[in-house]
Amino acid sequence: MSTLLQDISTLSTLWQQALTTVNSHHELEEVRIAFLGKKGSIATLMERLGSATLDEKKQCGPLLNELKKNCEAAIKEKKLHLAASAPSMHHAFDVTAYTPEQREGSLHPYTHFITEIQNIFLSMGFELLDGPEVETDYHNFTALNIPADHPARDMYDTFWLNTPGRLLRTHTSTVQMRAMKEKKLPLAGICTGRVFRHEAVDASHDHTFFQCEGIMIDKHITLAHLFGVIKEFLQTLFGSDSLAIRTRPGFFPFVEPGVEIDMQCPFCTTGCSTCKKTRWIEVFPGGMIHPNVLKEAGIDPSQYSGFAFGFGLTRLAMLRYGIKDIRLLSNGKVSFLQNFR
Ligand code: PHE
Repeated sequence: MSTLLQDISTLSTLWQQALTTVNSHHELEEVRIAFLGKKGSIATLMERLGSATLDEKKQCGPLLNELKKNCEAAIKEKKLHLAASAPSMHHAFDVTAYTPEQREGSLHPYTHFITEIQNIFLSMGFELLDGPEVETDYHNFTALNIPADHPARDMYDTFWLNTPGRLLRTHTSTVQMRAMKEKKLPLAGICTGRVFRHEAVDASHDHTFFQCEGIMIDKHITLAHLFGVIKEFLQTLFGSDSLAIRTRPGFFPFVEPGVEIDMQCPFCTTGCSTCKKTRWIEVFPGGMIHPNVLKEAGIDPSQYSGFAFGFGLTRLAMLRYGIKDIRLLSNGKVSFLQNFR
C-alpha cells in the first residue's frame, strides 16, 4: 500500500493537471467536488491522516493542509479567470446575424377619427370634456333624470360593479353633470370616450364602443343651434357642403324635446347598401337638456337652456372608413390596422 506521503505528492500533481483541462464553470465545479468535496480526494487523505502514526501526522499534516490551501486558491483563481474571459453580451450576440422584418407603426383608426372629430368641434368653439369610465349610478342615471325605478334604465344593458352604485358608464352623457357643475356658463363642450354595454358581440355590436357627447348651454339656446352644429359637423367630416340632415322625435329622459337626427347618405345618390337604399342614415340622438337636469346642476332653467347630443362614434367611424365588422376595431389585427397610416 502506498504511503500517505506518496499519495499527497501524487494528488498535488493530479489536481493541477485536472485544472488545466477546465474550460467552463461546470467543469470547474466537477474538479472542485472531486478534490475538495466532502467525499473528495483531499478529504479521504485527511481521514487517513487521522489514523496515521504520530510521525506521519507531523510530516504529512502540514503538507496536506498546504495542498488543500493551494487547491482552493487555484480553483478560486480559475473561477475569476473564467468569469473575466466569458464572452460579453456584445460578443455573445451577432447583431447583424438576423434582422427581423421592420414594421412601421401607425395610429389606431380610433385615434385618427377622434382627433378629426375633436378638431372640427374645437374649430366651432367647443372645449374638450372628460370623465371617468367607472362611474356612479348618479352620473350615469339619477342625475340624468333617470331615477332608480325608471324603466329607461332598461335601455342600457349595464355592467354593474361589485361595489354598490358603481358601474361602467353606458354612455358619455355622464360627463354632462360633471361639466355643468364644474364649468362656468356659457358652456360648449364635447367628450369622446369609451362606453360599455352588456351586449352579445357580433359584427355590428360590441360590449365596448365609443361615443361622442356634446353640450351647449347659454341663454336662448334652441334646437336650431343643435341642428346647425350637427349639420356643420357632418358636412365638414364628410367634405360636402350639401349634406342634408332630417329630424324625427326621439325619447331620452334627460332631454325635452328629444330628437333623432338622420344624415343624408354621403356615399350614394340613389340608395346603396350602407343606407339600405333609404338615402338616410340614423346617427344622432339629441335634444334640449331637460329642466330637471339643469336644475340638478344648479342652473336656472328659466334663464338658461342648452342642447345635448350623443352619437355613436364607433358607428360613425365604421361608416366613414367603410368598416363592416365592429370587432376589427378592437382585436388588434395588424393587417387591418396597417390600412390606417
Ligand atoms: N346618451 C344617449 C345614449 O347613449 C344619447 C343621447 C345623448 C341622447 C344626449 C340625447 C342627448 O343612448
